[in-house]
Amino acid sequence: CGIVGMVGGDLTIKKLVDALRKLEYRGYDSAGIAFRTNEGLRVEKSAGKIDVLESHLGNMMSTGVLQGMAHTRWATHGEPSDFNAHPHTDCTGKIAVVHNGIIENFDELRTALESNGHIFKSSTDTEVIAHLIEDHYRGDLITALRHTLVDLEGAYAIGVMHQDHPDIIVAARKGSPLVIGATQGGGFMASDVTPLLKYLRDVHFMEDGELAVIKTGNVQILKLDGTPKVKAPTRITWSEDAAEKGGYPHFMLKEIYEEPQTLRNAITGRIKSKLPHFRELEKMGEDLTKIKGITVLACGTSYHAGLVFQRFVQDYAGIRAEIDVASEFRYRNLPLGEGDVVIAISQSGETADTLEGIRKARQSGAKVVSLTNVVGSTISRESDAVIYINAGPEIGVAATKTYVAQLAVLLLLGASLALNKRNPEVISQLVNEIEGLPTVFESVLASADEQCQRLAREYYQFRHFMYIGRGYSYPSALEGALKLKEISYIHASGYQAGELKHGPIALLDRDFPVFAIIPEDELKAKMLSNIMETRARDAKVVAICSESDREVSRAVNSRIEVPKVSAPLYPLVMSPYLQLFAYHVAVARGYDPDRPRNLAKSVTVE
Ligand code: G6P
Repeated sequence: CGIVGMVGGDLTIKKLVDALRKLEYRGYDSAGIAFRTNEGLRVEKSAGKIDVLESHLGNMMSTGVLQGMAHTRWATHGEPSDFNAHPHTDCTGKIAVVHNGIIENFDELRTALESNGHIFKSSTDTEVIAHLIEDHYRGDLITALRHTLVDLEGAYAIGVMHQDHPDIIVAARKGSPLVIGATQGGGFMASDVTPLLKYLRDVHFMEDGELAVIKTGNVQILKLDGTPKVKAPTRITWSEDAAEKGGYPHFMLKEIYEEPQTLRNAITGRIKSKLPHFRELEKMGEDLTKIKGITVLACGTSYHAGLVFQRFVQDYAGIRAEIDVASEFRYRNLPLGEGDVVIAISQSGETADTLEGIRKARQSGAKVVSLTNVVGSTISRESDAVIYINAGPEIGVAATKTYVAQLAVLLLLGASLALNKRNPEVISQLVNEIEGLPTVFESVLASADEQCQRLAREYYQFRHFMYIGRGYSYPSALEGALKLKEISYIHASGYQAGELKHGPIALLDRDFPVFAIIPEDELKAKMLSNIMETRARDAKVVAICSESDREVSRAVNSRIEVPKVSAPLYPLVMSPYLQLFAYHVAVARGYDPDRPRNLAKSVTVE
C-alpha cells in the first residue's frame, strides 16, 4: 500500500491525489482520502484505481484543506471494496487512520473492541487501529497512538489525523516504510520519497519503533516511551523517476532487493509457538487431517514453486502428491474426489487455465486451497480456502519476489501438513530456519548483484543455455531457464541433470554453456558426475554451489557460492542469483527486463 499525508500551507485535495499517484505502483485495488476543512473531517474512498477516486471527488478536487491523508491499497485483509478502502475511522468519525502493513492480532483486538461496544464498518485489520486510538484518546493524539502501538502485533506504517488537531498528523513505523519532512510550506509524510520531492529534499526515513508529530515547519521524532529523538535529515538527490523505482534502474531489480522484506511479510502470522500455523485453513477442519492425496495446479513460475512443494510434502509429510500445469490438468481425467486436496498456485489469482482447473477439481469433489498474492482475485473467491502470500504488488512482468514468497509460504504449509506425522522438534527446527531466511537473503543480496553482473558480462553473447539440477534443484533449473528466456530471449532449457545423457547432451559443445545448480545435498556426487559429462563435451560450466565447495570449484569454469541451508530451502536461496543473472544478461543485451516482449503479467485467456 502507499500512503501520503500533508498538513498546512496552501494544501488542496488535488495536491494530495497527485502525490498519491506517485505511489500507485505500491497498490491499486482501492484508494481513499481523509481531509479536514473548516466544516470538519471528511473521508471519501472507492474501490479501483486512483482515477476512480478522482472522478468520484469531481469538483471537490480544488477544495482547500487544512490537512489530509490519502491511501492507495493493496489488500491483505478484506477484499478490495469501498468499505475496505482506507482511511478508516473510529466510531465518532473524528479520527482517521491510514496504514500500510499487516496487524497480526487484529482478530482478537476486534473481538475485544466489539464487546466494548465498538461498531466496525469494514473487514480490514486496519480499522482496529482507529478504534484503539479512540479508546486511548484523552486529548493528546500522540499519547493515544503510543498506547495503541502497545496493543499491536505485526507490521505497520501508520498515519493518524484527528478533527480536533487540524495542524498535525501523527505517524508511527514498525516494519513498513515511512518518510517524513517539513518546510515552512507544510508538513509531509509518504511511504517513499517520490511524492515528497516536489516539496522538499531533506527528509527523515523513520525507523522501527519511532513515532512522529508532523506539522508546518518541523517534524518531531519520538521513541515509543515518548522521549524525543534528535536525528539529522537525509538529503535526496534522486530524480522523481528514479525515486519511484527506489533508485534502481528497473522495477525487477528493485523487487529482487525487496525479497528479504517480502519473506518477512510472507512468514508474518504463520508461525505460532515455533510451529507453522495457517488460520486460513481452520475452516477446512477434518479435510486437512484426512488428506488422501494432494494435486498441485499452476502455470509458469508458480508451477516451479509447486514442484518444490510437491517434493517437500511427499518427503516431509509423507503425503502422495501430484503436480500438473493447469492447461494440461484441465483436459486430463484425474480421478479426484473426497479426501483429495488441490493446491492451486497463482500470484495474480486470475490465470484462466488455473481458474478452470480449480472449477474442474471442485466439481469432482476435491477441496481447493489456493495460494495467491491478490486479495479478492477470482481464484481466491472460487476456492474453498485461500492463503495470501502478502508480497505486495510486483510490477516487473517476470515473477521474482512473488516466487520467493510462494516458496516460503509453501514450505510452511508443507511443514504444517506434516504436524501429525513428524516430531514437532524437527518441524520447529525447519521453521526456525525459514524464520532466519530474511537475514540470509540480506547477506546474499549484499554481494550477489556484483557476482551475477560479472558472470553476465562473460556469458551474455551465447545463444543457448542448459540449466541442470537434481532433486530440489531441478525446479530451480527450470525457473533459472525460464527467467533467462523470458527477459533476455536466449534459448534456455531446464533439465534433470540425470536426463542429460538420454538426449540433451547431444546439443552441448563450446558454444552451449551449462548452468549447474549443485548445492551441498545428498545428490551432490551425482551432480558432479553429470558436470564432468558436460565438461567432456567442451561445454563451459557455471555452477551455483554451497560456500567453500572445493570439489565443485575444481570442476567448473565459473561459480557462485550460496550460504549452506537445509535441502528444501535451497530453491529459495538460489532464487536471487538466478534472477539477477537473467536480469544482467537482459540488460547487457539491451533489453528492458520490466517489459519482456510477448508476455503479460496476468494471463486471462486460455
Ligand atoms: C504468466 C506470467 C508468468 C507467470 C504465469 C503464471 O505467464 O508471465 O510470469 O508465472 O503467468 O501466473 P500466475 O499469476 O498464475 O502465477
